[in-house]
Formats: sequence, structure tokens, C-alpha cells
Amino acid sequence: MTKRKALVTGGAGFIGSHLTKLLSENKYDVVVYDDLSNGSGVKNIPKNVKIIKESILNIKKFRNACRNVDVVFHLAVKPLTMSFDKPEEVIEVNDYGTYLVAKICTELRCKMIHVSSSEAYGTALSLPMKEEHPFFPHTIYAGSKAASELYVRGFQKSEGLKMVIVRPFNSYGEYMRSDTYSAAIPKFFNRISRNQSPIIHGTGRQTRDFTYVEDTCQGIILADQNKNAIGDTFNIGQGKEISVKQIAKIMSEKYQEITKKELKLSLQYDNPRKGDVMRHLADISHARKILGYKPTISLDEGIERYIKWRLSGDS
Ligand SMILES: NC(=O)c1ccc[n+]([C@@H]2O[C@H](COP(=O)([O-])OP(=O)(O)OC[C@H]3O[C@@H](n4cnc5c(N)ncnc54)[C@H](O)[C@@H]3O)[C@@H](O)[C@H]2O)c1
Repeated sequence: MTKRKALVTGGAGFIGSHLTKLLSENKYDVVVYDDLSNGSGVKNIPKNVKIIKESILNIKKFRNACRNVDVVFHLAVKPLTMSFDKPEEVIEVNDYGTYLVAKICTELRCKMIHVSSSEAYGTALSLPMKEEHPFFPHTIYAGSKAASELYVRGFQKSEGLKMVIVRPFNSYGEYMRSDTYSAAIPKFFNRISRNQSPIIHGTGRQTRDFTYVEDTCQGIILADQNKNAIGDTFNIGQGKEISVKQIAKIMSEKYQEITKKELKLSLQYDNPRKGDVMRHLADISHARKILGYKPTISLDEGIERYIKWRLSGDS
């Protein structure tokens, strides 16, 4: 049986590397296309997968890489926190880069699975958040994700691009970046593992729909595998709301349980983060119905996996 040929932009990143691994285990022939400007997941990519180290902004190289490809999973991105100090770079890659990816996919008749983000919604105006929830971005990054989706939609309507849009909610798990641009979970671990109290920005009552990365990837793969999904948009989340304060507490308790250390940790509070979203909870009923998507990893289990991975020294 001939394998389906896939190209993953941003395939050396956090979600992209897990997606690449799962695709190659699911009988896809996968190529990673990533400029390795971050590449926190490069160690997670199976050894037999080819990595093309190049930018999506290099249209010639990208076109060549996409020849004979059946589906492009588009995940290359500049991170949210970078949009505070280098907004032009974020817009160039997230928007102009996505435009180029959609253009090449249209030209070569590849299917495009566009990975958008729940950030595009901003804070929930109604709960749980359906795909029809309006876009009220809080940051330039969120704006760039909203805009990029609209270009992809435009390509579908006027140029005949075969595409599916998926909107993951906050994902977490192994190979998340833990540097200056990292998210709350790696930062909490960095502090707790040094016997320091985790720092909460704002009240800690802000909520997220934290989803384990393999569940996020399950949703992304199903978006390619279901013919009824073409042209549609899907929220991909756990479907559960949890506060940032609760996450810090769970992480702290799990860490102590796993390491059998007793730490005297409390929560430390700092200024709210610029552009922070206050509430997020995904309505995943559409993905459940059309894609057969079903999250399988509980928050407890996912946090435990993440802590064990950080402790393994593989990070
Ligand atoms: N992590 C989350 O919680 C989350 C939530 C919702 C949506 N998303 C979306 O999922 C996708 C992947 O996110 P992630 O967290 O894995 O990001 P990431 O930063 O870990 O990975 C992005 C990858 O893109 C690469 N890249 C950056 N600029 C590039 C360019 N010009 N050309 C080629 N590659 C380039 C980086 O090297 C990196 O490996 C993004 O589209 C993001 O918006 C992520």
C-alpha cells in the first residue's frame, strides 16, 4: 500500500515533533520543514524522518519540498511572547508565511491542514467556546493567528484550496520549550525543581483548557483523515476548564509525590501578563461528531508524564 506523503512545517517544534512521530507511526511518509529557529522538539523526531532546514518564507525551496506531497500540516510559527519584542518577525512568519504555504498548496494541489489557535478568540464571551465564537485577539500574536486563518479561508473560497482549520487550545507535554519564550507549565517546573515557589502572573484565576499534546495531534491527524472535514473548522481541546493557580498546585504536588521530596512551596504572585486571556474552555462537540475526536489523557496523567520527562534529563 502506498503511504500518504505528508510535510510538516514547524515539525521540529513542540506540537510538530509529536505530530511527525505519530504520523510516521500511522503509516504516513513524513518530511519535516523547519528553519530550526526554535526546534525544541528536534530530538523527538524519528531518525528516519528527513528534516529540511529552511524557512517557509523561502518560496522556491518550499515549492520544491512540496512536490509530490499529498498533505501539508502547517504549524510553523513565531511564539506569542515574541510578539511583544519582535512583532514584525511574528507577522512576517505567521501571516505572510501562511499566505505562502496556502499559495503553494493551492498551486500544487496539496491538501492543507492549517493549525490555528484558540488565542485568536481572546477571552471567552460565552462558554463553552464554539467555533462560531468571534475573534477578539488580545495580542499581536493572537491577531496574527486570526488573520492567517482568514487568508487560508480566502484561498479555499476563491482559489479552490482543499483545507481544514484546527484550533488547538493550550497544549502541554514533553518537548515544550523551556527558554525565555516558554509557557506557564515549563516555567512552573523550572521553579519547583529548584525548590522555589511557582510565580503566578495576575490572580491565577485565569483559566485554560489544557490539552495533552498527543490528544492535540490526534485531532490534527483526524482532520486529514476525514473527508467530511474539508473546508471546516474544529476546536481541539480537552473540554475542561482549569485555573492557572490549580495547575501550579497540581504540578507542585505531583513533583513532590514523584521525587518523594517534601518542599515548602507556596504560590508567589507577580504583575498580570500583558494580553493574558481570562477564560478559555473549548466546546469540542463538533470535532467529536465529525472527526470522532476523543481526548484520552487526563490532566493528572499528562502533568505526571511531563514531570517524569523533565526529570529523565532528556529535555
Ligand atoms: N503550544 C500550544 O499550546 C498551542 C496552542 C494552540 C495552537 N498552537 C499552534 O500550534 C502550532 C505549533 O505550535 P508549537 O507550540 O509547537 O510552536 P513551537 O514554537 O514549538 O514550534 C514552531 C516551529 O516553527 C519553526 N519555525 C519558526 N519560524 C519558521 C519559519 N520561518 N520557517 C520554518 N519553520 C519555522 C520553529 O523552529 C519551531 O520548530 C502553531 O501554529 C501554534 O500557533 C499551539
